[in-house]
Amino acid sequence: MKDQFEREISYLRVSVTDRCNLRCQYCMPAEGVCKLAREDVLSYEEILEIVSAAAELGITKVRVTGGEPLVRPGVPELCARIGALPGIREVSVTTNGVLLERYAQELKEAGVRRVNVSLDTMNPEKYRTITGGGELSMVLAGVRAAAEAGLRPLKLNAVLIGGFNDDEIEAFVELTRDQDIQLRFIELMPLGPGAAFGPEAYLPGDTVLARVPELEPEAEDGGVARLYRLPGGKGKVGLIAPVNRHFCSTCNRLRLTSEGHLKPCLHSAQEVPLRGLHGAALREAVAEAIRQKPAAHGDLTLGHASEAGRAMNTIGG
Ligand code: 5AD
Ligand code: SF4
Repeated sequence: MKDQFEREISYLRVSVTDRCNLRCQYCMPAEGVCKLAREDVLSYEEILEIVSAAAELGITKVRVTGGEPLVRPGVPELCARIGALPGIREVSVTTNGVLLERYAQELKEAGVRRVNVSLDTMNPEKYRTITGGGELSMVLAGVRAAAEAGLRPLKLNAVLIGGFNDDEIEAFVELTRDQDIQLRFIELMPLGPGAAFGPEAYLPGDTVLARVPELEPEAEDGGVARLYRLPGGKGKVGLIAPVNRHFCSTCNRLRLTSEGHLKPCLHSAQEVPLRGLHGAALREAVAEAIRQKPAAHGDLTLGHASEAGRAMNTIGG
């Protein structure tokens, strides 16, 4: 279905849990995280019912996210069941990779096309710092397992944080020379704990082009990243710039929070509660969310933080 601004809404991101086995500094506070009670989180049956209604309205692609989706038991089976719904053509997963070594093969067998792995640094010490105690070697093992399982193209997402990982830009880009991966830099957004970072942390995505001028533009793949390649490189570099070059005019997505609210826009507090709705009423509520999708989000600056109204772990990347 098209929204008011002629955008065909075809992509649904589903947060299956607000819980996470990491505590990335820009995403979840280290302590005092308010966890949803189990009964407040959508059951898999409810998720399937909602995705099915969304598919009837034209959703074809679903991405399973969290928190960290793989901390919830049964995610591969959920993915298989989503993929079997009429109208759904592609199911993918966004993960921090910590549990990926264990699940990569199962996800592949469940029909998951590919995974995005969040990885902000290649330095084990820094990884521990930014994730609140994460073990880098587990993520790297997960990335290898995903490649071996044939989950391709493999995308690695690094949030670009000035003073933290901008000294690794060249090294990250270098990974794409010999490996067929897509290394994507995401601008830090002033959202949740991310809004508490100092001004130096907010680097424009174009910083990457200034640092690695030999990057050559590549054809777009319909996603939100602008794509580049090192001359002769096997992989690609993606720049995702929600702050400095927002992509609202081509935004085709809705987001389902773990407690069953449909968000027409990541950076707006607008939400349509879906829990308890069925059949035609559920379809109508999804259509209403599509109709409510704003033309664009407001400025994202330190003085004007996101209006999302909640932290990323409950919305899902
Ligand atoms: N700014 C940019 N990206 C964020 N993520 C979470 N919070 C923020 C933020 N404030 C990203 C993570 C991960 C995905 C789940 O969401 O890095 O890639
Ligand atoms: Fe967990 Fe992802 Fe948030 Fe990090 S960014 S705390 S991995 S949900």
